[in-house]
Formats: sequence, structure tokens, C-alpha cells
Amino acid sequence: MSSTAIASKSPVRATEDFLPLEGTDYVEFYVGNAKQAAHFYRNAFGFQPLAYAGPETGVKDRSSYAVRQNKLTFVFTTPLRGSGPIAEHVAKHGDGVKVLALRVKDATSAWKETTTRGGRSYMEPTHLHDAHGEVVLSGIHTYGDTVHLFVERTNYQGPFLPGYVAWNNPYFQTKDTGLQYVDHCVGNVGWNQMNPWVKFYEEVMGFRNILSFDDDDISTEYSALMSKVMSNGNGYVKFPINEPAEGKKKSQVEEYLDFYNGEGVQHVALATKDIVATVTDLRSRGVEFLTVPPSYYEELSERVGAIDESIEPLKELGILVDRDEEGYLLQIFTKPVEDRPTLFFEIIQRKGAKSFGKGNFKALFEAIEREQELRGNL
Ligand code: FE2
Repeated sequence: MSSTAIASKSPVRATEDFLPLEGTDYVEFYVGNAKQAAHFYRNAFGFQPLAYAGPETGVKDRSSYAVRQNKLTFVFTTPLRGSGPIAEHVAKHGDGVKVLALRVKDATSAWKETTTRGGRSYMEPTHLHDAHGEVVLSGIHTYGDTVHLFVERTNYQGPFLPGYVAWNNPYFQTKDTGLQYVDHCVGNVGWNQMNPWVKFYEEVMGFRNILSFDDDDISTEYSALMSKVMSNGNGYVKFPINEPAEGKKKSQVEEYLDFYNGEGVQHVALATKDIVATVTDLRSRGVEFLTVPPSYYEELSERVGAIDESIEPLKELGILVDRDEEGYLLQIFTKPVEDRPTLFFEIIQRKGAKSFGKGNFKALFEAIEREQELRGNL
């Protein structure tokens, strides 16, 4: 972590949750072409148009398209000129996540609580108004160029945020694919940076480290990584943090860091209530997934015991299964959704399990390595 991430350290450990979060409000991506990105996410992932901001609405330097599916809101923002922070972000990182926005009851308190604990301010509490009411935004920096915005929208009835107008296109309709909400969002950080960022989430945001994986858990023959899962008090917001580990060849996290030009969001996990239906739909719309060898399914029943789903459709789609003490989960990972091998998505259905699919790490990372190999980056 850069030394600026924690400007000062507070020795005080609050007993109550000083940063109550109501969940993920939205995820904003800085992209090279927001109009086309929004179309891709509508067409391929089943998002519905929600709101637009750009020159027509008085915003001169960017265009932003907000899309929604159930409790998921994504925003795609592109710069209109070749210079400025958005253009620099896109040039450096390619398309990627800029903002992980978190819903709060009090954005002013969220900013004060985090910045007094050493969080570096990105946006002081800012009141935005339009005819639909008021939103208060504030924000702090996290790893890389990524930021957390705190969104207080109790007094707002508009489609998204002040500055945006409702957006729809009656001539292009797509059905949703059953994606519900952000289950977790994973950050890749540099060598020896996992623990400093764990400390950041503990000290600045009051999160707890609920799970840890070392390189023995997550290593294949060639590459390795380490991971710690950070969760807020009520468990609505979970941020696993990965760092590369030494292996015979290049870690997948290292490949990400090379191509993203630094730390950033590796994947966003999207929850569904019916993963077979969702993945069948996504695949028919052209979303590409990582696949595991058929042998994975031969040992599956033995490894995870009885599950409600029949194995055949899971095998056909490449859906992975893992069990913990509380239940099981089904998951699958897309290939990167841009040409750089950076951001991808996970589709996850939880059936009691609160873990992250440790039993699948080996099969999954071998699948990732096969792709890395094809790119010549292993
Ligand atoms: Fe994940």
C-alpha cells in the first residue's frame, strides 16, 4: 500500500459500528466508450437502462450511463476529451472499476469517521439537489486509483443521482438474467500489500478479517496468491484482498497488476437465485466463462455431498460447487470482460455457505493459467 493510504493511525477501537453500511449502492466503471459498454451490459448481462448524464444534461466533460438489474446498479463513464482524470484513468488502466459506492444513512458521519481514522479524503461531504430531492455524497481513497463513495439517498426520489435524467429506449428491450446484488468485490494489491490493506479496512472502515487463505491454499504447480476476506459489521459488504505469491511462474495477480498498471478491482461477484438459469441465459447472450475439465465433476459428489441441483447441467455449463460448515455454494467465473486481462465477474448462488469456494481454487486457478498461457503471460 502506498504510504498515503493511512495518513495517521488511530489507537482507538470502537466497540459499536462507526460506519454502518446498508450495502453496495453502485459500481462505477471508467471506460473508453460508455455508450457501447452500457449496450454490452444491457445486451449480454440483462441490465435495464436507468439514467444518463452528459452534455445534454449540463455535464461537459463526460458521459455516464447508469443501468440496473434488481439491486445491482452499474454506471459507465467515459471522458469526452483526451485529458483530465477520467481520460488518464482509462489510458492507464483500461476499462475498470473506479468507484465502489456504499449506501449509508449519513454520508457526513461516514466521511468524518473514516478520515479521522486515517482514510484519505476523495470527496468532502457534498450536497446534490434536483427536483427529486437531495443526495449527500462523500468519499475516500482505497487501493490503487479506486475509491469508496458514501451515498446518502434517504431524501431522494429520482432515478439515480442529481445531474442524471431518466434514460430508456423503448425500441431496445432485454429481459434480466436473474442477477440480484453484489455478493463481494475483490481487490488485487501489490507484493506485501495485503496486510497493510487489511489494516486499512480494519482501522479506517471498521471491517473484520473473516477468512484468510495463504499460498498453500491457493497454489497450483506454477502460480500462487494469498487472500484475506474483509467484511463490514453486518456482513452486507465483503472485500477480499489478494496479493501475488511466489510460484514457479507468474501469479495471476501479477498479470493483473501488470496490465491494470497497478492495484484495482479484480472481480465483482454477482448473486443469483438460480445459477443454472442465469448462466444458461448469459452464455446464450455471448458472455464467455472459464471452463474446468470434465474430471472436476467425477469427484464432485464425493467432495460436496448431496446438492439440490443435478450434476449434468452444472457440468455442461462449467459451474463449480463448494461446501462449508453452513451449506454450499455454486459459482462460475467469466473471462475478462475487456481486452486487457484485468476485470472479470463471478456469478454466485449461495445455499447456506458463507465462504468463497476454497475447494474450487485449484481447478479455477488452473483454468485461469490455461488462459494466461494462451496470452503468453504465464
Ligand atoms: Fe469471488
